[in-house]
Amino acid sequence: MTALEPETLRVLTTGDGSPTLQRVDTGWTYRSDRGALRESAHVFVAGADLRGRAHVRVLELGFGVGTNFAALVVAARAGGIDSLDVHAVERSPVPSALLPVFDAQAHALAVAAAAHGHAAAHGVSLTLHPGEFEAHAPQGVFDAVWLDPFGPDAEPESWSVDVAKVVARALAPGGRAVTYSAAGWVRRNLAAAGLFVATVPGPIEGKREFTIAAHTPERLGSVKVRNAPR
Ligand SMILES: C[S@@+](CC[C@H](N)C(=O)[O-])C[C@H]1O[C@@H](n2cnc3c(N)ncnc32)[C@H](O)[C@@H]1O
Repeated sequence: MTALEPETLRVLTTGDGSPTLQRVDTGWTYRSDRGALRESAHVFVAGADLRGRAHVRVLELGFGVGTNFAALVVAARAGGIDSLDVHAVERSPVPSALLPVFDAQAHALAVAAAAHGHAAAHGVSLTLHPGEFEAHAPQGVFDAVWLDPFGPDAEPESWSVDVAKVVARALAPGGRAVTYSAAGWVRRNLAAAGLFVATVPGPIEGKREFTIAAHTPERLGSVKVRNAPR
């Protein structure tokens, strides 16, 4: 695992006014430049469909700058979720001093977890696992699994069948996996790992479609299954 040097990153303000970081060498952004926080709230939090769950466990593959985590903390505080237990895997941590502040509580937890591996306060717990998705052994099962590397063309190894198997293994029987990519081969890899897969509309002005997956077609809701386990 290699922590990133501060000079390899630059701050961008995205379309909804929220910040993200960009890798200087490749130009990759950690969230959509059209609206970082809006993308996290729409794709990862709403896409996970956590309604009716008071105690929520989430596994995130790719902690990045903690945008999804912050959007989840904000949603939990807004109502309905009493406790959050978030585990995140990351091979290239961003220096704490550069983690954007989307939300004070989420930011404090992200900084403390970066220093100690784990942090918890006011019903929210965050555990950071340094390392590769492929090698991750999930601790229990999760209501949502977020697959969130950089794009399939940028980091193809992080969208492999082996990674999809980690997603499937970590996902609770009634859980939802979510990823922002709707690429056909990404969907097929999730299906090859044993999941039912569908695409749903993305945020306005953002990506056209994103992907949800589950152990049963019913858990996908009323949308059409596009890829089934084989
Ligand atoms: C798009 S960013 C994640 C954005 C983040 N979820 C957020 O909300 O701010 C992708 C992250 O996944 C990490 N990553 C990509 N492939 C990985 C792998 N195979 N193992 C571990 N980390 C990986 C990258 O280092 C990067 O930090």
